[in-house]
Amino acid sequence: MTVIAHISDLHFGRDIPEVTQALLNCLDQLQPELIIISGDLTQRAKHQEFQQGMAFLRKLHQPRFIVPGNHDLAAYNLLERFLYPWQKWKQYVAADLQPIMQTDTFMAVGINTARRMGWYMDWSRGRINPKQIRYVQHMLQHVPADCLRIVVAHHPFWLPNSSMRRHLIGGREAALESFQAAGVDLILGGHVHLAYVQTLQGMLVSHAGTTTSNRLIQGQPNSFNIIRGDREVLKLEQMEWRGTTFVPVQQQIFKRAAGGWQAHGNL
Ligand SMILES: [Fe+2]
Ligand SMILES: [Fe+2]
Repeated sequence: MTVIAHISDLHFGRDIPEVTQALLNCLDQLQPELIIISGDLTQRAKHQEFQQGMAFLRKLHQPRFIVPGNHDLAAYNLLERFLYPWQKWKQYVAADLQPIMQTDTFMAVGINTARRMGWYMDWSRGRINPKQIRYVQHMLQHVPADCLRIVVAHHPFWLPNSSMRRHLIGGREAALESFQAAGVDLILGGHVHLAYVQTLQGMLVSHAGTTTSNRLIQGQPNSFNIIRGDREVLKLEQMEWRGTTFVPVQQQIFKRAAGGWQAHGNL
């Protein structure tokens, strides 16, 4: 059985040290096969924040898998944002903005959905382009049938109605159609600072809230998710911060049927 921890939106610069330490303790106990971090490692993409983020990542005892978010692009230094948008990411975090990892039980493909700018006022919005869609399809084409297929992207492919002002990812329809054809099981993301799981076109969209930062939205404590299972049955557990530690608050079970993943109740 695969066990993966999914954390997100750590926002170093706005991190809560007590929560960060409790997360490290939880992950040490859990000992997942992989720790997925779905973007917004920093608050303002400053050197010091990347250094803090890396100090945290170095404390993880399991392999990590990280994609950037919109906050990992310089917000105020427009020269940096336009000319060298990912220089600091590459300097501190990883040369590859789109990691890939394959084991006997899963294949994870990371996509960088943050953009320097767009034809809209809100540059926090994200996008997946046709080249990235083809890339995901290509990487998944020879994956064994019993391997979980996971796509990690910072921006949301599904949003609850109450969060629609945060905008769905651009390029969504073409991407979902292609992901479905490629047999994607899980699409993991962050950005909204809201934890949720949703079945979508036979796939599961699962978001973690902000795991360690004080950039909280009302009624949404710090959170992260634990994914357990295989390509037949998946248990998605939501862990929430409750003042002194993270505690499990919800576990949802999904089973694969002919049309894809279907909810099979809560524990
Ligand atoms: Fe964020
Ligand atoms: Fe974000």
